[in-house]
Amino acid sequence: MPEVGPSIFLSRVSLQKLQILKTMADGSMELTELHRKSTNWAKTVDEIVKLEKKIFPKHESLARSFDDELKKKNSGLLYLQFNSEIAGYVMYTSPSSLCAVITKLAVKEKYRRQGHGEALMKAAIEKCRSKRINRISLHVDPLRSSAVSLYKKLGFQIDTLVTAYYSSDRDAYRMFIDFDNE
Ligand SMILES: CC(C)(COP(=O)(O)OP(=O)(O)OC[C@H]1O[C@@H](n2cnc3c(N)ncnc32)[C@H](O)[C@@H]1OP(=O)(O)O)[C@@H](O)C(=O)NCCC(=O)NCCS
Repeated sequence: MPEVGPSIFLSRVSLQKLQILKTMADGSMELTELHRKSTNWAKTVDEIVKLEKKIFPKHESLARSFDDELKKKNSGLLYLQFNSEIAGYVMYTSPSSLCAVITKLAVKEKYRRQGHGEALMKAAIEKCRSKRINRISLHVDPLRSSAVSLYKKLGFQIDTLVTAYYSSDRDAYRMFIDFDNE
């Protein structure tokens, strides 16, 4: 089983705290988990869909299906808020009790390079690990070098290159990280 790199120090944010949703990612950003019953569900999804459209090209965007994706069993969304502005989000799903998939990660341009992408990923990993899954995987366009660097920094390894994953001319790395739950 591949070893988890030493850099994967996951902040031991208690899950209860994550669920209460008032964990601060840093001094000013608030990390929140979106719940189906949240009164701000529609407003939050709306704002994230707008970001999604800005950040990702159509064929890579979940904008049209975001709401449906989120309603799927075992999917979750964590987002960072700064003065009620959404600065970034990460979406994940656990298709089985053994594995989870990070389906989306993005940070608004003006908030990049301040550690927020890493904070979101660590929080999502922590959530997934609480379900005692063995593997987290994701797909990323090799040209998204910032994202690839972030995933490698967190201990993800490249499994394979999936050709034409996003579109006929856009490939994806499938990356993974394994955990020993013994
Ligand atoms: C990828 C993304 C989420 C990173 O968010 P971020 O908040 O800027 O990242 P962080 O500040 O937390 O950086 C953490 C690590 O990511 C990597 N990284 C982030 N931006 C980078 C850049 N411009 N160049 C190289 N590495 C970068 C580095 O390893 C960095 O660690 P370091 O600061 O020790 O060098 C952000 O660039 C983004 O939203 N990009 C567009 C959407 C996207 O590509 N999403 C991923 C789809 S799979």
